[in-house]
Amino acid sequence: MKIELKPLSINDINDDVYQMFQDIPAEENGSNNTAHGLSREEFAKWVRKEINHSEGKNLKPGYVPGTFYILWIDNKPVGCGKLRHYLVPSLERDGGHIGIHLSPKYRGKGYGNILLREMLKEAKKMGISKALVFNHDNNTAAWKMSEHAGGVLESITDIPEKGIKLRKYWIDLSRTR
Ligand SMILES: CC(C)(COP(=O)(O)OP(=O)(O)OC[C@H]1O[C@@H](n2cnc3c(N)ncnc32)[C@H](O)[C@@H]1OP(=O)(O)O)[C@@H](O)C(=O)NCCC(=O)NCCS
Repeated sequence: MKIELKPLSINDINDDVYQMFQDIPAEENGSNNTAHGLSREEFAKWVRKEINHSEGKNLKPGYVPGTFYILWIDNKPVGCGKLRHYLVPSLERDGGHIGIHLSPKYRGKGYGNILLREMLKEAKKMGISKALVFNHDNNTAAWKMSEHAGGVLESITDIPEKGIKLRKYWIDLSRTR
């Protein structure tokens, strides 16, 4: 199996990557896919906007730079993730460093574990020593992934206004390769 994690680039303005972002719902478990529902033209603009954000350009006030990555398995785009370059107090409460999505047709095959591990390698390269990940308590696949990647559970917090419990995991990257 060929596994590649590549940062989003203008080469991703193509049918396969566009379709992957349309297959992933707009919102799931508190994570948004802002490319869902866009026209092809809007998608091209979105890709350029995300590349700018990754370089710290044109960010809204209070937003931190974040890089989108695409997971390619055997040359097919199967999922994506966003890596925020550093934390601010709001991201320490919810959001964390990493959010990931798999295209529904590729779920339950172990690719989520692969995607999170590959994203953590990028986080380590970026100089992040402890990565923060949040998962909804009822999203078993997501928090199992965090635990498999070495995540240590700090807390489970009730968020009554959203009707959820939020698990907060720290993943020590000094011990990973
Ligand atoms: C969360 C998500 C990335 C997991 O990806 P996935 O490829 O389906 O997960 P994997 O196949 O790698 O499985 C990860 C673990 O969860 C378990 N799992 C997978 N689907 C599951 C399900 N529906 N219910 C319970 N456990 C499940 C797997 O058994 C595996 O644990 P194991 O290694 O102990 O067997 C994917 O379901 C997704 O994109 N969900 C929507 C977006 C989201 O919730 N993102 C998380 C927010 S950061």
